[in-house]
Amino acid sequence: MKNQLDKNNIPQHIAVIMDGNGRWAQKKGAMRIFGHRNAMTAVRESIEGAAELGVKFITLYAFSTENWSRPKEEIEALMELLVQAIKDEVPTMMKNNIRLSTIGDVDSLPDKCRQHLEWSKNETKNNTGLTVVLALSYSGRWEITEAVKEIVKKVGQGSLDIDHIDPRLIGEHLNTSGMPDPELLIRTSGELRISNFMLWQLAYTELYFTEVLWPDFRKEHLHEAILAFQKRERRFGKTGTQIKHKC
Ligand code: IPE
Ligand code: IPE
Ligand code: MG
Repeated sequence: MKNQLDKNNIPQHIAVIMDGNGRWAQKKGAMRIFGHRNAMTAVRESIEGAAELGVKFITLYAFSTENWSRPKEEIEALMELLVQAIKDEVPTMMKNNIRLSTIGDVDSLPDKCRQHLEWSKNETKNNTGLTVVLALSYSGRWEITEAVKEIVKKVGQGSLDIDHIDPRLIGEHLNTSGMPDPELLIRTSGELRISNFMLWQLAYTELYFTEVLWPDFRKEHLHEAILAFQKRERRFGKTGTQIKHKC
């Protein structure tokens, strides 16, 4: 599968909605948290797979604003796993020149999580290979709301002219400022929805859905998704003929 990929058409930015941990565990007659615990192999494989292909950014939706409504025990277990994973992965990230970054309301995370995240981001900040972006306590509507507040504040203070507000300026006020929009979104577990993820940035992203539950996701699934992406014609509002003749 990997050999079939066009090396000149690898997405710069891949976004992933890692879904299906609970169902994976339940199918095995285990508690939902068992699924979360078994999600790390999939995370590692997708990061490694992306790095091998020269992908620049991979954004992993790990915890949504809405996920705060889950049972308290599940949230606590997820946060604990997060701390552990960050700790465990920093040496590998250093070895592979990987930078860690986050989007979302990181301040709302438990202190211990926040501290580990800050430490790991700082350790890896000079790495120049793949950037792994963890979306934590993130949602598209939250992010856009924060951007609106920031922009309105600047207009109020007189440091921003209302006529200078355009899509580029809005993009610069989002958490993803400086990153290219994802070209490819992968969602596992067969759910066909966006669940409040990167609402602004996904405007022209190619969407790829797979039945595979996240803990079963491996490099070959990533390759399959990229292959499907490479077969799409991205038209950006133009006609197919215009795209073929590059005009
Ligand atoms: C995705 O798996 C992980 C998180 C949202 C944290 P789920 O926990 O949503 O698993 P399902 O969708 O219930 O199977
Ligand atoms: C989306 O999955 C959030 C993450 C993967 C972190 P959910 O499982 O929370 O989404 P819904 O509730 O099924 O839409
Ligand atoms: Mg889910």
